[in-house]
Amino acid sequence: MYDHNATPIYSALKKYMAENNLRLHMPGHSGGKGFREEELKAVGALDLSEVPGLDDLHLPLQAIKSARLLLADAFGAGQSLFLLNGATSGIHALFLSLLPAGTKVIIPRNAHRSFFGGMVLSGAWPVYLPCCLDPGTGIALAVSNEDLSRLLQQNSELEGAFLTSPSYYGTSCELDKISAVLKEKNKLLLVDEAHGGHFPFHPAYPRPALQSGADAVVNGLHKTLPVLNQGACLHLATDFGEWEQVFTAWSLLTTTSPSYPIMASIDLARQLMVEEGFSLLERAWHLSRNFKSRINQIKGLHCFEEEELKTLPGVSGVDPLKVLISTQELSIDGLAVAKLLRQKYRIQLELAAPGIILAMMSIFHEEDDWERLYRALEELAWDYRAKRPASLAEVEIPPPPGLILSPREAYQAAKKPLPLEECGGAIAGEVIAAYPPGIPCLLPGELIDETMLDYLRYLKKSGLRLQGTQDPDLNYVRIIE
Ligand SMILES: Cc1ncc(COP(=O)(O)O)c(C=O)c1O
Repeated sequence: MYDHNATPIYSALKKYMAENNLRLHMPGHSGGKGFREEELKAVGALDLSEVPGLDDLHLPLQAIKSARLLLADAFGAGQSLFLLNGATSGIHALFLSLLPAGTKVIIPRNAHRSFFGGMVLSGAWPVYLPCCLDPGTGIALAVSNEDLSRLLQQNSELEGAFLTSPSYYGTSCELDKISAVLKEKNKLLLVDEAHGGHFPFHPAYPRPALQSGADAVVNGLHKTLPVLNQGACLHLATDFGEWEQVFTAWSLLTTTSPSYPIMASIDLARQLMVEEGFSLLERAWHLSRNFKSRINQIKGLHCFEEEELKTLPGVSGVDPLKVLISTQELSIDGLAVAKLLRQKYRIQLELAAPGIILAMMSIFHEEDDWERLYRALEELAWDYRAKRPASLAEVEIPPPPGLILSPREAYQAAKKPLPLEECGGAIAGEVIAAYPPGIPCLLPGELIDETMLDYLRYLKKSGLRLQGTQDPDLNYVRIIE
């Protein structure tokens, strides 16, 4: 049995600090002496390196070893690793270790950019899974088990699937069903659960991917728990056999100068969640139910509640802490709402798009904080109560065009800008995604056929906000030479 109250890394740090050693070692700020600013001095005192007593991240025998065991136990994993370059580094490590050059893997079309980086590093080929969109807002909330099963039937040589659950908006996929389908065919299920690090600690939150049968899971702990930016972790299931491969890739990608403040914050957050996570999450869940329903009564706003989201295709669970609100019935769009919230009410949202806003609440927000958001929204919805005219008719994104080069080949190829009208038949050298839904219509290595060219012409005219393109007006597209 583990002592979950223990915080081995934090305790080792405190012990070293209490010894008041003359620090004749890295980092070069010498325990904060080198900083002139008081805030940085305090951080510097904690910012140690791998001196005796503080263990070694790549060959852990003491504090880091114990902290890793505690982390794995708290999350129900067989093995857990500290990630110090965000969820991104865990996603990269999984691609590099489990999806080597030439292998094919199912990934959602709207996967985070770190998936693309993972494929560049490993040489894997993607087989894209379409996203289930909310018909009202057009945002991508999940992927469906049926679509995944179809792809598995069509591609017998697939290694497995690397999915994202929950989505950025807090909706989780039907991972139980998906993992059963994959297990039956002896395929891998890897999950980017970057936004779900708090799920294991309360049953009212979506079921954690590891409990649903995932082989490996990445949690971006800094996104939802009291963990310093970049702090994340990678878990392997108890029955997962290839852990040495994953460790080797993780070690290859990981710094030899790990940040102890980040690791200590993971250690402390794990202890907090095991000891008090249930009550903190319980309180937040009640606040969320209460305020989501109150926001929903504000004329002109529509706050998505759990029951409604769960009726949408592919959605099996909803994170109460993500507050997703449609602003489509107001006279101003979501971007203007977010701007006003910041300027007039001093409230900064996580995301704003033409038709929606997303507020990220945490287990630490008090009733007063929820009330402050509610009151600001109420006032703003009254001030801008007239419905605005419908915007440009939406055109459906064409299905992903043929993949001519793997992400790695496309990354390595020489590229040049070409006027849009000359791009027919060319191979894309950049990502093009309009927001919303933020799903790329084109990724590097894909063929720009006539249907895609037509869609790009529409995008150019629409004035929609584009992501990934070097030329935001789309007069030119970067293509592969
Ligand atoms: C779904 C998803 N996966 C992965 C990442 C990468 O996380 P990090 O910034 O911790 O590297 C993000 C970042 O926003 C994300 O939203």
